[in-house]
Amino acid sequence: MAFTVHKLHPHIGAEIRGIDISLPLDQEMMAAMRQAWLDHSVLVWRGQELDKDQQRRFVSYWGPLGGRASRLPAKNPNREPGPDYQSEEMLISNIRKDGKPIGVLPDGELWFHHDMCYAEEPNRASFLFCIETPSTGGNTKFADMYQAYENLPQKLKERIHGRRVLQVFDAIQDSRIDLSSRSLDELMHYWQPMVVRHPETGRPAIYVNRLMSHVVEGLDQAESDALLDELYEYTEDPALVYEHVWKPGDLLMWDNLCSIHARTDFPATERRLMRRMTIAGERVIPAWADTAAAQ
Ligand SMILES: [Fe+2]
Repeated sequence: MAFTVHKLHPHIGAEIRGIDISLPLDQEMMAAMRQAWLDHSVLVWRGQELDKDQQRRFVSYWGPLGGRASRLPAKNPNREPGPDYQSEEMLISNIRKDGKPIGVLPDGELWFHHDMCYAEEPNRASFLFCIETPSTGGNTKFADMYQAYENLPQKLKERIHGRRVLQVFDAIQDSRIDLSSRSLDELMHYWQPMVVRHPETGRPAIYVNRLMSHVVEGLDQAESDALLDELYEYTEDPALVYEHVWKPGDLLMWDNLCSIHARTDFPATERRLMRRMTIAGERVIPAWADTAAAQ
């Protein structure tokens, strides 16, 4: 069984054709697909029929399955675990049963973010299988953080060199949390390098995002906001964005270390259902770490 790789965008994303990923796959095939993933950061297989167990087997070829963010310690007494939170599988859906969402992140637009960048060991990759889509919207946009870093003017690269940023997230959140009215103690958070070095490609990638990045270490909030806004001009540059229009049967995976993603709005009256799984990651490597120290 051979497959072909078709670029979806000049910078990010490729479609893999000619392969049924519900079947067992051998190591040689997986090595070739992993290389395609490292080359394109986002991969899509269309027209797949995957039940939960088949998706789990496919995901497990890429690494150990990742845990859910809702298992991370956070001290908010009001925070309830999301539906089915013990499982590695997560439904992303606005469908409601008895008035309660059957999944998480149910409605509307979601700003650009890296999944779980607020954890010490963020999940490495996410896999979404599309089951139902609304008639319009609910698309997922992906932006290339390698190229965003390359595009920074030298002066801006120097301003962020060696710096960390505070990444923060709450279970239900579609825009940046206002920390003036919340205690950090009750929120999932972690200080991360502003630029990471990818463990497999060795390339630097920007690791800040509009949804979760709060403050740059050593700057006051106003200075930090100005610097982050300047960076978002590069990270959200439309020239670096591939927008995926979902169809049922799409399995899409992305690399959380070198891409950000966002969701476009969609009609609240229509159903959207995705089955998500992840693979675990390790502590991220700052771009300025020397190779020996990073081992
Ligand atoms: Fe996400």
